[in-house]
Amino acid sequence: VNVTYIDPAGEALTLGLPEGWSLMQGAVANGVDGIVGECGGSCVCATCHCYVEEARLADLSPASADELDLLDSLPEGRQANSRLACQIKASPAIEGLVVTVAPVQV
Ligand code: FES
Repeated sequence: VNVTYIDPAGEALTLGLPEGWSLMQGAVANGVDGIVGECGGSCVCATCHCYVEEARLADLSPASADELDLLDSLPEGRQANSRLACQIKASPAIEGLVVTVAPVQV
């Protein structure tokens, strides 16, 4: 599953992720800048905050209440297209997705 990450410096990197991996796992394994994944994907640290291209939001499974709560608590705030990369799983539905890594991570 191809996913393109745009890091805080504006560099784009396209990775081929195994199905079932989270976008955070893929980013950490490949050293994408700005995605730390401090909590290991447990939806408690928000160091994997990213922005999903608006046109593809409907292709993702909806954010859980926990994810929304955490995003709301961020100093940079939650945008309509904010998601936690650890809560997005690679699947054929998201082939070609582009995510922009949030510049500020807590
Ligand atoms: Fe901690 Fe995503 S890795 S919330």
